[in-house]
Order: sequence, then structure tokens, then C-alpha cells
Amino acid sequence: MTLPLVTALLDALEEPALLVEGERTEAANDAARALLGPRLVGQNIRFAIRQPQALDAILSGRTGQFEVLGIGGVERSFEVSINRLSPTLLLVRLVDRSARRAAERAQVDFVANASHELRTPLAAVLGFSETLAEEGALPESIRRRFGEQIHTQAQRMMVIIRDLMSLSRIEADRFSQPSGRVMLADVLREAIQAAAPLAAEKNCQIMLEADQSLGTVQGDLPQLRQLVDNLVGNALRYGCSAGGKAVEVRLERAGEWQRLCVRDHGEGVSPEHLPRLTERFYRVDDARSRDSGGTGLGLAIVAHIVERHRGLLEIRSRPGEGTEVEVRLPAR
Ligand SMILES: Nc1ncnc2c1ncn2[C@@H]1O[C@H](COP(=O)(O)OP(=O)(O)OP(=O)(O)O)[C@@H](O)[C@H]1O
Ligand SMILES: [Mg+2]
Repeated sequence: MTLPLVTALLDALEEPALLVEGERTEAANDAARALLGPRLVGQNIRFAIRQPQALDAILSGRTGQFEVLGIGGVERSFEVSINRLSPTLLLVRLVDRSARRAAERAQVDFVANASHELRTPLAAVLGFSETLAEEGALPESIRRRFGEQIHTQAQRMMVIIRDLMSLSRIEADRFSQPSGRVMLADVLREAIQAAAPLAAEKNCQIMLEADQSLGTVQGDLPQLRQLVDNLVGNALRYGCSAGGKAVEVRLERAGEWQRLCVRDHGEGVSPEHLPRLTERFYRVDDARSRDSGGTGLGLAIVAHIVERHRGLLEIRSRPGEGTEVEVRLPAR
């Protein structure tokens, strides 16, 4: 086969691929050049691949597949595939497995986090109920307090399980486009009404500014309600100081989008936390949000709902100035 044909063949492969003869790189595709450097061809393979295990396998002509860390960045994981094409010629392909690795890690972390979150209230329930069962002559006031604690902690577990189930349902529906027609302005009004007790407790006002002429969006009504409840709830819980500025909720048209913004003037979130807010169970201040009943699942749920609706989510925040969450959904 001529070299141009070989190069064309390599280029047809999506993953980085090289032809190696002895110690020399004979051909490489664009993906390989992007990963390993522009001037590979004609050079010693040691210039391109420094990862010891991969280099050793190529130089000793060992065929097969194995996974390595440390090609194209320390954290990246690649599956190296070596095939012999002729007595002297090797085809080396590098398939990026970083995303799969990250997903596996996230899954492991998720199970660990969920177990941890459930174990804390469960330990409290076990402790209180054990004392109640074993100590016969507890004063009535203590028995009542223990009973209340058991109820509170069990309720907390219920909330976590409800949110987890809701998250997995939304994830399962990810590829089915929602088919309802939803008036976002109505959803906002209802959410603000439902949040009135919390707003009163926080001594905080909510201002709504919604363009009444906007039509519906294609969406799933219960999910969009859940999204708005989460955002308004967060603004009230973390963005209100007594007597401070009101929470602002805005709905307007922006090109092909309907844009919803929930803005508060609270303490805000510092930049290192911002990208992690949509991770499951992530809380900026663990103790504080747990005290206010937070499980750290709300924004993860919001992000999944937005994704299912083919929308965009952006969270902007400055410490000391407050937070603005913007959700854009395609206008019909
Ligand atoms: N408007 C906001 N201002 C400041 N911090 C916020 C705001 N919204 C969210 N956060 C921070 O982000 C964290 C994650 O929010 P998220 O809604 O995912 O979880 P939560 O409110 O703790 O629990 P849940 O919503 O599941 O009841 C919160 O714990 C809080 O620390
Ligand atoms: Mg929340």
C-alpha cells in the first residue's frame, strides 16, 4: 500500500493512530498529531510516546490491548491497542478512556456519598430508639423529645430518598423530549405563592417580573415546577438576610429562548465552589445547608431537568453581592 493511502486510512479512524516500523513513526493521523505533537512522522517513536509501559510494548513489538495513564496529560487514561500489520510494521491506536474512567469514579463517589448521607440520620434514629426501648423510666419530656428527633431524622431520610428517586427518573428520561406545553409565568406565580411561608420566615420579599405575552415552552410541567421551586428555595435559604433586598424573579424572551432569572442579594458563592454546585450532594457549607434541610441534590436535579429540556443553565455569583441563576429554555 502506498503511504498516501495508508495516511488516508489512518485519517478515517477517529482515534489517534500511528504506524510504527522499528523505532520510527512511519505515518500518523490528524488525531495523533493533535495529541502527541505536530511533527511525529519520520521521528523516533520515543519523541511521541514517553509513557514507559506503552513505549516498551511498541519497541518490543508486543501486540494486544492495555490501559495506561499519562499520555497527553497525567490524568488522562488511554487504551493502547497494538496490531501487527506485517513482520516489521505495527499499527498503534490510542482510545481515550478518560470520560469513561471519570464516569466510573463519579458512580463510586455517588454511592459512597448517598450511603453517608443516609447513615447520619439513621444512626440518630437507632440511638434514640434504642434508648427509648431500653430505659424504662424516662421522664415524659425526654421521651417526647426523642420521639420528635426520630421523626425529624426519619423525615430527612425520606427527603433524601425522594430526591434520589426523582434524580434517577429524570436521568432515565434524558433522551425523551418532554411533550407538554407549559406557561412558565404561571409556574413562577405558583412557586412564589408556595414559597410564601418560607419568605415570611426569612423576612424576605420576592418580586416577580414576567413578560405576559410569552407563549408556552415545550416542557414537563412537574419537572419545571420542581426546577423553579429549587431555585426560589435556594434564593430564600441562602440569599436572604433579614430586611435585605428582595429576591427577584424575571421571565423574558431572549432570541430563540425564554429566559428565567432568579437573583438574590445574599452572601454569594466564591468562584472555587461555583462549578461544583450542580454535583450531587455538593454543599458549600455542609453544616449550614443541612441545618436548613438541604441535601445538596437540588441543583443537580435542576441541571438534569434543564438538560432534558435542551436548555442552558448558568450560575453567576460574587461573594458579598449575591447570586443569579439563569435558565434558558427553547421558545416554541
Ligand atoms: N442562591 C444561593 N446563594 C448562595 N449559595 C447557594 C445558593 N444556591 C445554592 N447555594 C449553595 O449551593 C449548595 C447546593 O445547592 P442545592 O440546591 O443543590 O442543595 P441544597 O439546597 O443544599 O439542598 P436541596 O436543594 O437538595 O434541598 C447549597 O448547599 C448552598 O451552599
Ligand atoms: Mg436547594
